[in-house]
Amino acid sequence: MKICVVGTGYVGLVTGTCIADLGNDVTCVDVDEKKVENLKKNILPIYEPGLEELVKRNKKRLNFTTSIKEGMKGAEVIFIAVGTPPKHNGEADLTFVKEVAKSIGKSMDGDKIIVDKSTVPIGMGDLVESIIEDNYKGKSRYDVVSCPEFLREGSAIHDFMNPDRVVIGAKKKDAAEKVAGIFAPLKCKIVITDLRSAEMIKYASNSFLATKISFINEIANICERVGADVSTVAEVMGFDKRIGAQFLNAGAGFGGSCFPKDVAALINIARSEDYEPLILNAVMEVNKMQKKLVLNKIKRMLGTVEGRAIGILGIAFKPNTDDIREAVALDVIKSLAEKGCRIKAFDPVAMPNAKKVLKNVTFVKDAYEAAEKTECLVVLTEWNEFRELDLKKIKASMKKPVIVDARNIYDPETVKKHGFEYTGIGRN
Ligand SMILES: NC(=O)c1ccc[n+]([C@@H]2O[C@H](COP(=O)([O-])OP(=O)(O)OC[C@H]3O[C@@H](n4cnc5c(N)ncnc54)[C@H](O)[C@@H]3O)[C@@H](O)[C@H]2O)c1
Repeated sequence: MKICVVGTGYVGLVTGTCIADLGNDVTCVDVDEKKVENLKKNILPIYEPGLEELVKRNKKRLNFTTSIKEGMKGAEVIFIAVGTPPKHNGEADLTFVKEVAKSIGKSMDGDKIIVDKSTVPIGMGDLVESIIEDNYKGKSRYDVVSCPEFLREGSAIHDFMNPDRVVIGAKKKDAAEKVAGIFAPLKCKIVITDLRSAEMIKYASNSFLATKISFINEIANICERVGADVSTVAEVMGFDKRIGAQFLNAGAGFGGSCFPKDVAALINIARSEDYEPLILNAVMEVNKMQKKLVLNKIKRMLGTVEGRAIGILGIAFKPNTDDIREAVALDVIKSLAEKGCRIKAFDPVAMPNAKKVLKNVTFVKDAYEAAEKTECLVVLTEWNEFRELDLKKIKASMKKPVIVDARNIYDPETVKKHGFEYTGIGRN
């Protein structure tokens, strides 16, 4: 099948490449000329494990262009995968989706199914349909379908190819079935729903995962006060199948381009319908508090924060990605810089992105250099390579051997045995 994917970011590029790998001819469209130019030369705009190889492997079935008209030519299905960033009030900014819908209306050259993969407020499918209607006066048929994306950065290809479920929300059964056919080779559960429920499933799922994180962080804060260890508590809670082990890692709070924005958007949607979402409000409040906790812990360990030499391990919002959108590390580093700290930071892949937004930071070549001559080493992203560091070497190079482990990657006893003063989250 000939398919067009609009937007070549984390979702669009992975979607386009994976769909090409399933045997379809895919044209990926992006307004960013530089991105498209680079993609034509196999230079990827993002870091995602395995993606470069997959793009290369599907070279013959994968094209890139800045022209939506060219991308849509002969395509039966068009995926929309552009960003829906948050506005200041938490509402989703739908400018990009609306622009794409308008361009689709103007570029129709036959029957099309328009599939929304971007995370959008409930009712957006109807709006996309009406925007196309305003811009297209021909006779071809067009159906708007919602197919929210659940992939996680860092394991995006695996997640796309092995989904727990594919959700397809549509008004017409034949349109839903046609889209289902694209995912059929994945041999996964495909659920067909109405449009609005599909849109809501995405927000509800992300909000639930964020709730799990804020919940365990709250438990962690109580654990610390009563002398319990949240790692043990969470592990054993997770044995209960009704609870499940995932998303119960206490830490410095959630960041990234999805959870903060999607919870904020759902709060906004609820309020616009005169409903005050008490749980979602608390999820955001706990998360805000959790980010501040790191600074308080550094202060507690050092007495004062002002002017200290601090080493930072990890900037990306989570491991295996270069994405730093809403990363907790950004907030922590900015607060430390405001207090006149001398900061050295290392992240295995996110430093090029970090350099664009962080000032007053010395970016170094590895974790050991980040620790050298500092008074406190702060772990902010749980990259696997940080778990296996030579602690003896680290201790010998630090001015003061203090570790604030904001992702609980170390065993407190082991670290203390090496002569460090240690604090994690939710355990003493
Ligand atoms: N990143 C994730 O892990 C993830 C997971 C699931 C769902 N989502 C959702 O998917 C959507 C996309 O997220 P992302 O992280 O891939 O965003 P992104 O910012 O990485 O990529 C968006 C791309 O769209 C392009 N674009 C903007 N306007 C365009 C236009 N008019 N025509 C063509 N291209 C245009 C941008 O240049 C950019 O390359 C969002 O709604 C997000 O919430 C993201």
